[in-house]
Amino acid sequence: MKILAIGDLVGRRSIEYLSGCLWRVRSKLGVDFVVANGENATEIHGLSAKDAEAILHSGVDLITLGNHAFGCRDIGAYLDDNSHAILRPANYPALCPGMGCAVREVGGVRLLCMNLSGTSFMDQLDNPFGVVDRLLDSQRGRYDLALLDFHAEATSEKVAMGLYLDGRVQVVFGTHTHVATADERVLPGGTGYITDLGMTGPTGGVLGTDSQAVIQRFCTRMPTRFTVADGPVEAHAALFTVSEEKPWRCVRVERVVF
Ligand SMILES: [Fe+2]
Repeated sequence: MKILAIGDLVGRRSIEYLSGCLWRVRSKLGVDFVVANGENATEIHGLSAKDAEAILHSGVDLITLGNHAFGCRDIGAYLDDNSHAILRPANYPALCPGMGCAVREVGGVRLLCMNLSGTSFMDQLDNPFGVVDRLLDSQRGRYDLALLDFHAEATSEKVAMGLYLDGRVQVVFGTHTHVATADERVLPGGTGYITDLGMTGPTGGVLGTDSQAVIQRFCTRMPTRFTVADGPVEAHAALFTVSEEKPWRCVRVERVVF
């Protein structure tokens, strides 16, 4: 099975870009399932219901979110109504809308999809290491393979999570920092891992944001309004190949830019 994980979409041009090429990429790479982090797709800080629909139409099977999960007002009801297709981090308080995991059937294989937020240099949510254990326990017997989008700031927290889940979750990737890391590998227990997928959006700014506003904020420490950057759009992703024989193992991880 081939799973394509696409880095954080920034701005609506990223959705237009995927709409124009993702079905072709899926077919060329022989992809069975596509997951994409969409939390910055509606003008950086959030995702609207309309834009979530557009991402799913572009060829994405599952949207994951992160610290900007609730940045758009209408996303709460959409999360509740579409919990098989869009996840928010599972370690948010239980009162929040939406779900943090879903089981999807992909070619007869039951794929457990999970989304968690880190807590180092981020909001103080439930401990993601404890939450992922509880999620795996609660879903035992209901899935064959599992994947996790760990939306986190600290490289160390992401690497630790990969090793913590080695052999238990076949695909673990990080999102949020918007720059792809060069550490894609298969861990000893058979988990495919990369610390950060990178970003899908305009390459001309600072992590997808217009550079002038970001530089001004760094120079003056005063609030500035962030807008989406200009420049050509690229999609940064990773392709995970998982063997279809038990015990399930990831056998290959490749970075993909399109
Ligand atoms: Fe984020």
